[in-house]
Amino acid sequence: MNLEKLFIDTLKDIYFAERQILKALPKMIKAARAPKLREGFSVHLEETEGQVERLQKVFEALGRRAQGKTCEAIQGIIEECEELLEEVSQPGPVRDAGLIACGQAVEHYEMARYGVLIAWAEVLGRKDIVSLLQANLDQEKKADALLTGLAESVNSAAAMAA
Ligand SMILES: [Fe+2]
Repeated sequence: MNLEKLFIDTLKDIYFAERQILKALPKMIKAARAPKLREGFSVHLEETEGQVERLQKVFEALGRRAQGKTCEAIQGIIEECEELLEEVSQPGPVRDAGLIACGQAVEHYEMARYGVLIAWAEVLGRKDIVSLLQANLDQEKKADALLTGLAESVNSAAAMAA
């Protein structure tokens, strides 16, 4: 096992994760009530499509076929989101607050993965790959910040909900 091999394994992990997120986001958009939250998730769904394409370019740059590797971490986060939707069956601020929490768990997982992939691509001397991964990381950070902003009003409304 060397660092390049570890890099490829982690790349497969995030590729799997992004594609799971592509499947989960439409459900999250449907479940959200606050228009700004729905819009935020919708924008991120489009961004995620672009992120998958960038990851395919990374595989291409490495001369490999794009391939995912089951990521139990993201599956667990998405399962928790599904549980939340069952537990808080009524649309409204409490459900929205929970959805924001799920979304942020996803973003933070991705930020951790992209952060490490960028650091490894740098030491492996792959500047071409760094810029692709950095573009994805920037979008995840932006999505996370947007959710933090939305949480302010959603959480206040949730605290007042019966
Ligand atoms: Fe992503």
